[in-house]
Parts: sequence; C-alpha cells; structure tokens
Amino acid sequence: MSLAIVILAAGKGTRLKSKRPKVLHRIGGKAMLLHVIDQARQLVDPADICVIVGHEAEAVRAAVAPQGVQFAEQAQQRGTGHALQQALPFLAGYTNVLVLSGDVPLLGAETLEALRDFHLCEQAAMTILTAELENPFGYGRIIRREPHAPEVAGIVEQKDLPAGQAALREINSGIYAFAAPALAAQIGRLQANNAQGELYLTDMAGLLAAAGQRVLALPVRSPVEVLGANTIAELMTLDAALRKQTAERHMAAGVTIFQPHTVVIDAEVEIGADTVIEPFVQLLGQTRIGPDTTVRSYSVLEDMTVGADVVIRQGCILQQSEIRAGSRIGPYAHMRPESLVEEGVHVGNFVELKKTHMGPGAKANHLAYLGDADIGVGANVGAGTIVCNYDGVDKHRTVIGEGAFIGSDSVLVAPLTVGVGAYVAAASCVTEDVPDGALAVGRARQVNKEGWAAKRRARLLHRGKDG
Ligand code: UD1
Ligand code: MG
Repeated sequence: MSLAIVILAAGKGTRLKSKRPKVLHRIGGKAMLLHVIDQARQLVDPADICVIVGHEAEAVRAAVAPQGVQFAEQAQQRGTGHALQQALPFLAGYTNVLVLSGDVPLLGAETLEALRDFHLCEQAAMTILTAELENPFGYGRIIRREPHAPEVAGIVEQKDLPAGQAALREINSGIYAFAAPALAAQIGRLQANNAQGELYLTDMAGLLAAAGQRVLALPVRSPVEVLGANTIAELMTLDAALRKQTAERHMAAGVTIFQPHTVVIDAEVEIGADTVIEPFVQLLGQTRIGPDTTVRSYSVLEDMTVGADVVIRQGCILQQSEIRAGSRIGPYAHMRPESLVEEGVHVGNFVELKKTHMGPGAKANHLAYLGDADIGVGANVGAGTIVCNYDGVDKHRTVIGEGAFIGSDSVLVAPLTVGVGAYVAAASCVTEDVPDGALAVGRARQVNKEGWAAKRRARLLHRGKDG
C-alpha cells in the first residue's frame, strides 16, 4: 500500500478581499498551508506530499519550500476538481491518496489517520470526511443514499442547493480519501455544468457512485477540526479556536495562564512547567520560555529565548533576543533584535537594548539606551546613560569592562572602551577610551558662589520698591 497526500492550495481566496493568497493567511501566527503540511507529514514523507499551487504560485512555493514537499501547478483556477487533475502525473504509482484543503487548517493527525484507516478497511473508492454543523451555510452538503446509511449518492454545493435540500446539515469538509486508480479513471469526466462554471471535486462522489463504486462518509468527532476559512471572520474564528487549544495544551503541561482568553500564544511557542503567564501577554513566533519564569501583563515577546527563573515585569517589548536564567526585566523594557542578557542581569524600566550583550550580573536599572554595546560581568550602568552608537552614517560599538561603574546621565560616544573596573563620573560626556581602573570625568567643574542668593534677592526687592 502506498499513500500520497495532495493539498489544494491554488485558489485566490476572493472572499478574503486580500492581496495575500488565502493559504498564506495565518492562524496562530503560522500560514494555514503550513499547518496542513504539518498534519500531512505526520502520515507520510514530504516526498509523498504534493501541493497544488496557482494563484501567486511563487509566493506560496517560497513559503513552503523548506518543508521539502512536491508541487504541481494549476495555471488557471478552474475549480477544485481541475486542481486535483493537475496532480495526476504525481499520483501515478500510488494506490491511495488523501486530499486536503489548504484552507482547512485545524484537522488533527488522529482524525486524518482515522480517515485513512476507515477508507482502507472499507476498501472504498472515495471516503469523505463530514461533520454535522449547527450552521452549515456555505458548505457543500452530503446526500446519503439513504438516511443513516454510510453510502453517499453525491455532494451538492451551497450555490447549487435546491430549496428542498437547504435543511441538510451534514457538510463536506473538503477532505477526502480516494483509491488512486478509481480517481484517475473518473476524474476526466468532471463537467463545469454548475452555478460557478467550475470543475468541482465534489462531483467525484456522484460520478463514482453512479459507476457502482463505493463512496462513503465518515463524520468527525469534533466539528471544529474541519472548519474552513473563506472570509476574515472565519479565519479569526479558527485563530481563536487554535489559540484556545494551544493555551489548554500548555496548562496541561504545568504552565499557569491567568485569564487564558486574553493571552495570545502562537502555535510553535514552547513554555516550561511552573512558568506563570499573566493576562494580556503575547508570546509570538518561535518564542521559547524556560520553567519557573513569570511573564507579567502586557508584555509582548517575539522570537525570544528566555531561560528559567526569569521575571519579565509588565509592559516589556522583547524581540529576537535571549534572556538567561535569573534575570529581571522591566517594567517597560525594550529589547530589540540580537541582544543577549546573561544570567542574573537586571534591565529596568525604560531601558532599551539593541544588539547589546550584557554579561552575567550586569545592571542597567533605569532610563538608558544601550545600542551596539558589550557590557562586562557585574558592570553597573546608571540611570539616564545614553550610548551614542550612530554618527549619521555608521554604527559603532561601546565596550564596558567587567565591574565598571557608569555614573548616571552619562553620554558614551562610540567607538569607545571603558576599562575593567573603571568609573565614569555622573553626567560625563565620554569621547575617549577610559583605562582599566581609572575615573573619567567629562564635565565642567562645579563653581559655588558664596552669598550669591542673598545678594540677588536684595537686588530684586530694591527694584520692586522703585517700581
Ligand atoms: C469546498 C467544497 C465544499 C466544502 C468546502 C469545505 C468544492 C467545489 N467545494 O468549497 O463542498 O464544503 O470546500 O471547506 O470543492 N482551490 C484550488 N484551485 C481552484 C479552486 C480552489 O486549488 O481552482 C483550492 C483552494 O485554494 C482551497 C481549496 O481548493 O484551498 C478549496 O477551495 P475553496 O474555494 O475554498 O472551496 P469552498 O468554497 O470552501
Ligand atoms: Mg474553502
């Protein structure tokens, strides 16, 4: 037995009213088509998966090429049946094929396995995955040969549905298993005599049944798995359903998520046990968080790697960077890409890092901009410190040595090195390297004028009397 999987992904998605091809629209932060490929890969090798591309074919190919799947091209979008016809050369040599839809992304691998097993066991020519929906509007409907009989006589599309059949609630999920020879023998007979003037893959049910072949329906246990996304509203319904599942999966693995309906967690995020996620947090992209960490409300983490026992306080914006164990971040800290804070670092409120590396135990607790900087082990960066890393043309680096102390409100003009254990006096403008162990004072010396205040007040009083 050899099994192929074909994924239909050539359609434009007219009902989305979007420039982006439908199957690249995302749920849970990831293109629908990538979710569908993930499901297919649970059953077969990438070489046995063929994606039918057409509308914006290059963009779709580029988005999924790293998955190692095969492609077939549907130059004109003449319907789902026509799309599958393009896969016939790919299907030569396979005994069975599963057909998936690039806009039906929530299917569980177990359901797909159940479809395969049922189809093989029943030796059907075509098996259709179906569901009973409260509101079946928009979907193709299953016409069973007799009520409750497993055999199907045909599928009728919403737009071709006679008034008498509008009450049918069993819908076609658009996911099928076919015996490959039966499919190849009949698919050339599809005709476009329907409301949309297209070659409907759904008509294969009627064609095969009329040819005396076995066409069966297999209802899914949980209908949410087969919901499709043809409009933005439907897409957002699926996004919410997937995020709910994702939050439940993390909670089942020991993560505490307060008010999970307010938290946005992308599909591929990883979180360790005993980590606490407060309301209104967003964990996006490839973010990975270790155990025993707390992410407080309103923080947004994108492609972040966070270690164990970290506290991220409220309102932090953290992107494409790494935070190691035991560090304390925020509130209101901003880490821009390619930053690394090592173990036990403190990054306080209104501190911005960009391409900056802070060694273990380093601290920048308040109001600082640290861009293109290397900050040594245990160094202390005072409130209001600014690194001038940009001269209008090039970016330059600042190196702050181990154990150095940068006084508050200092300006460090890069390229610059502050030596190991050195001090910079508060409010200095430092333009030259500071040797190890030295004190740099880069400000005007303070002058105190004794008795000046009393003299000024007397002068003002005198003027007032005159006036
Ligand atoms: C289709 C089914 C409908 C089913 C529903 C489930 C048909 C005729 N109708 O309707 O019975 O209830 O799915 O979600 O099949 N595509 C192509 N080439 C084309 C047209 C479509 O590759 O020429 C692809 C699309 O990219 C999409 C999939 O096929 O991934 C389904 O097409 P879509 O237009 O969404 O069909 P529905 O109207 O949802
Ligand atoms: Mg659809």
